[in-house]
Amino acid sequence: MKIARSIAELDISGVVGLVPTMGALHDGHRSLFRVGRAENDVLVASIFVNPAQFDQPADLAGYPSDDQRDLEIAEEEGVDVLFAPTAAEMYPAGFGTWVDLDDTGAEGTSRPGHFRGVATVCVKLFNIVQPRRAYFGQKDAQQAAVVRRVVRDLNLDIEIRVLPTIRDKDGLAISSRNVQLSPDQRTQALVLPRALAAGAETYTQGGDAVAATRSAFNGLTPEYVEILEFDDLTVLASALRVGSTRLIDNVLLKGDLS
Ligand code: PAJ
Repeated sequence: MKIARSIAELDISGVVGLVPTMGALHDGHRSLFRVGRAENDVLVASIFVNPAQFDQPADLAGYPSDDQRDLEIAEEEGVDVLFAPTAAEMYPAGFGTWVDLDDTGAEGTSRPGHFRGVATVCVKLFNIVQPRRAYFGQKDAQQAAVVRRVVRDLNLDIEIRVLPTIRDKDGLAISSRNVQLSPDQRTQALVLPRALAAGAETYTQGGDAVAATRSAFNGLTPEYVEILEFDDLTVLASALRVGSTRLIDNVLLKGDLS
């Protein structure tokens, strides 16, 4: 596996698959690597904790990282090139061009500027790496939809592949942020997937999914519970703060990912 810390060190040819990440790699990232590995000649993973998408400085400062483990996981999953640039490489002095988006609701409302940062860094990564395909997780359904819209709106020649959410055995969606949870908080966090499952169940019975989800939070207050409509997908999405850790999750209500 080649490790590139700068754009100049990249030398990639062939049919390229890109998995953009912020590191602290886990089984959710692994599943993207596996499909990317199978579908392309060359698999590139990027690890870049993108300051532009964090609306809270403390959240950026506390974002987990484990460089050694990341190298092991990327190597194990057959990543050919690991692109891990510095912030100065991605946002050099004088940087001032952004991919702006119309209102996106849910995460976009809860985290002002978040998707502008995501969209900008993704377009930069696409231009730098020039992949034929890029891989995203359903775990961040709205992010995947935003990236798809950017690709369509800006006529980028890339296929965006969205893959299912990987969960721990107890149902909690795997996230880099889960390591920040104490054992008690981790137990509390289970209310998020359970409430969404209750909402989805109510939806299939023709009931009010949002109300059912809210009441299944058992007194905890989610940041939002929303039904989001993307091109061919409808999801029930929510965000919950547990201590200082913000967790998001969603379940499919209509459509499928394939
Ligand atoms: P990060 O949180 O590291 O996630 C990288 C990719 O892994 C995203 O597409 C995310 O949806 C996917 N992913 C995370 N947890 C997952 C899970 N449990 N199951 C399946 N996929 C999962 O998302 C980002 O980084 C950043 O916003 C990024 C796209 C890299 C732009 O900076």
